[in-house]
Amino acid sequence: MDLVITLNEQAPLPLHRQLYDELRRAILTGRLLPKQRIPSTRALAKSLGISRATVTLSYEQLLSEGYLETTVGSGTFVCAQLPDDLLQSSPVESDRPFTQRPVPLSAYGMTLLAPELAKVRDSTLELNFSYGRPAFDHFPMDLWRRLLSRYCHLNPACMDYAADSGGYLPLRQAIAHYLSRARAVLCDPEQVIILNGSQQALDLITRLLVDRDDRVVLEDPGYLGARRTFLAHGATLHPVPVDQSGLMVQALADVQNAKLIYVTPSHQFPTGAVLSLPRRLELLSWAQKTGTIILEDDYDSEYRYGGRTNAQDNRPIPALQGLDIGQSVIYIGTFSKVLFPALRLGYVVVPPTLIDLITRAKWLCDRQSPLLEQYVLTDFINEGHLERHIRRMRSLYDQRRQCLVAALAQHLPNTVTILGENAGIHVMVKFHTHLSDAELLQRVTQMQVGLMSAQPCYLNAQSSSEFIFGYAELSESQIEEGIRRLALVLRS
Ligand SMILES: Cc1ncc(COP(=O)(O)O)c(C=O)c1O
Repeated sequence: MDLVITLNEQAPLPLHRQLYDELRRAILTGRLLPKQRIPSTRALAKSLGISRATVTLSYEQLLSEGYLETTVGSGTFVCAQLPDDLLQSSPVESDRPFTQRPVPLSAYGMTLLAPELAKVRDSTLELNFSYGRPAFDHFPMDLWRRLLSRYCHLNPACMDYAADSGGYLPLRQAIAHYLSRARAVLCDPEQVIILNGSQQALDLITRLLVDRDDRVVLEDPGYLGARRTFLAHGATLHPVPVDQSGLMVQALADVQNAKLIYVTPSHQFPTGAVLSLPRRLELLSWAQKTGTIILEDDYDSEYRYGGRTNAQDNRPIPALQGLDIGQSVIYIGTFSKVLFPALRLGYVVVPPTLIDLITRAKWLCDRQSPLLEQYVLTDFINEGHLERHIRRMRSLYDQRRQCLVAALAQHLPNTVTILGENAGIHVMVKFHTHLSDAELLQRVTQMQVGLMSAQPCYLNAQSSSEFIFGYAELSESQIEEGIRRLALVLRS
């Protein structure tokens, strides 16, 4: 065989995999021809100076995939009949440039080309105020590992397809109790459907309720992940402005024939406004009158810092779901912020009439959420760890929030307005500056500081110089340093 094969012992890819790749590439590019004999494992091992077992492993893989064939007594050959399309296709790992054939996209696929869906987070920056990330280093991982080890053995209960795509019933019971204690949500455990985070809830609910050209009302500014989901399913968007008391419900008077209204009442995204109780009641009454379903994303509800409360009894304002008497609310919650986002566990609380349908939608989409994590989370909630963790994090985030507000006041006096500081794990900050958002972002990035402009959250309303500051993940000294660097940019 007249073929140069280069293997690198220092490379992270094992030698047998490198040899497999080299041979496969040679076959696909025609350097090894159909029916061509290839050396025996012993001969190739000797010429390459590697073990015979390594060569055997590569050959076995190529044999099983149909690139090679053996004839007893005669040796190993490149398969005589490689499928034509395989031979013509561009080798995936080839260094040679290949032309990209455009794939005809569906209407859904086309909506995903929107530039605002490009990956935005630069994880290489030293000080990143990127929002929505909890304090990872304060998560009780030892405890989680202990709970995990209870179930992490050969246990078909956690390894099989779930009996119910709606989720592990004890977890649904634990969440229903937690929600009734913490958020005044009223539901039976069966109404709680376990999903892979809020984003999946948005997607499945939209698939279930929204047809192409149906009208969906949403906050402006608002959460991009929700807006892009509605657009991906062909909805017509009807933005409604937001002020310091949340969604301006009075603007709904003109809205007709809406299928769905999406709101973030606990901590409006991104302004941080808390929807006042009178507006909540007004919104519920409008939804009942018009037959519109309210999609309540109770995002960030766990973190409130002695700010806006229900004046009568000084408790946090209850979720819309618990105030509703007309079954017009679908409630969405997630463990991404209170535990960690990679857990991918969240839930939706649906009216009884939707339980079966959302369960079917979940089954059709991805069968079920991972069971092992559901088992662990059930114990985590039932043994009181969730609420303990939230209490601890609330006090930590409160300190970090105060530190951020103080640092902004100290380093940038008269240059900023802070919004939404009484809840959640981010604030929105408006700078009084002549710099455009793009210029400011470019300059802070050079200083190794990560920020997110609020501009993409706006649909009709215009914004400039508004930025979202997540602070939960950063220590007080990191927050101080980040704001010091930002001040240098703004003063220069
Ligand atoms: C307002 C809002 N809702 C929902 C989500 C999605 O959260 P997840 O899918 O991780 O539960 C996010 C993500 O940060 C968000 O900001």
